Amino acid sequence: MKQPIKLKGCIAILAAAGFAAVAHADPDEDQLTVNGEIEMVTEVDAPAHMENLDTIYSGWRFRSDETQAFQMDDFDNPAMIFVEAAAETWDIADGFEGKSCSSCHNDIESMAGVRAVYPKWSETAGEVRTLEHQINDCRENRMGAEKWKYTGGDMAAMVGLISSVSRGLPINVAIDGPAQETWEKGKEIYYTRYGQLELSCANCHEDSYGMMIRADHLSQGQINGFPTYRLKNTKLNSVHARFKGCVRDTRAHTFKPGGPEFIALELYVASRANGLSVEGPSVRN
Ligand code: HEC
Ligand code: HEC
Repeated sequence: MKQPIKLKGCIAILAAAGFAAVAHADPDEDQLTVNGEIEMVTEVDAPAHMENLDTIYSGWRFRSDETQAFQMDDFDNPAMIFVEAAAETWDIADGFEGKSCSSCHNDIESMAGVRAVYPKWSETAGEVRTLEHQINDCRENRMGAEKWKYTGGDMAAMVGLISSVSRGLPINVAIDGPAQETWEKGKEIYYTRYGQLELSCANCHEDSYGMMIRADHLSQGQINGFPTYRLKNTKLNSVHARFKGCVRDTRAHTFKPGGPEFIALELYVASRANGLSVEGPSVRN
């Protein structure tokens, strides 16, 4: 449990930044089972590398009962329309090689487990790659097709499809070995205060989670549910689009989606969810 003193400090930070931080509410006690069969871990001990939190929670636990319900059954989950479209794309040849994803990867089930370990060090590329980068690499270099826009609809849908076959598996990104340098860079970004409001990711999602901010229940900012269908914009939203929105809210210049800073930040944020279930595509407000 957080100390009252610390909470007061957070309210002061957020209030000074112009947010009406009015109340604090713990994540609820609800349990998430999807389609009556996939049991999600939405609360677990924080991974050893985290110094300031004992328990990590999925963002699902901070949403209202109505929003939560959308994610409990694929028939009610509006993200599934996009996933179904991507399942068709999977089999459609594109580019001058005349190949589809399934030409090389067969059934989408071959991607089970993949979402859980990305971003991941790529031996071939000699860098940490996000799922989006890997998909575009296949499109460009193996299919002879045009790259998809990093945060665009085709890409978000394909990432949603690939995530959907890993649902229920624990996030398990590697942060050591060749990925360590990138991870450390991401950690530094997470704790840096940006913008006119001088707020870091940690100020909101680590120090102040549970507080109400503009009628929104502040979560730990986890990415195990991505891509997320947001009721607010009625589409699938990618990780970097969400990061961009949060950085903008601090009135700072944001980094480029797909660029090195957000890749590093994604690896770091993903590692803060190690142990939570892959939920993507999830539903948020
Ligand atoms: C011509 C064959 C080919 C096609 C077509 C192809 N890929 Fe790939 N894909 C590969 C190979 C080979 C790898 C392993 C690359 C590596 O490790 O550097 C790979 C790796 C991947 C990975 C990473 C898997 C992992 O375990 O890390 C994803 C995700 C992926 N492809 C998605 C796609 C998608 C989506 C499409 C269609 C838009 C596609 N690929 C089309 C050959 C292909
Ligand atoms: C001024 C406070 C604030 C700051 C600073 C902030 N966020 Fe957020 N963030 C929010 C709010 C409010 C939401 C929507 C409610 C929620 O899901 O927590 C949100 C949502 C998110 C989500 C979606 C969580 C989910 O379950 O869908 C992610 C991921 C996220 N933030 C990451 C970040 C990262 C990374 C940074 C730093 C670059 C950051 N945020 C900085 C306020 C903030």
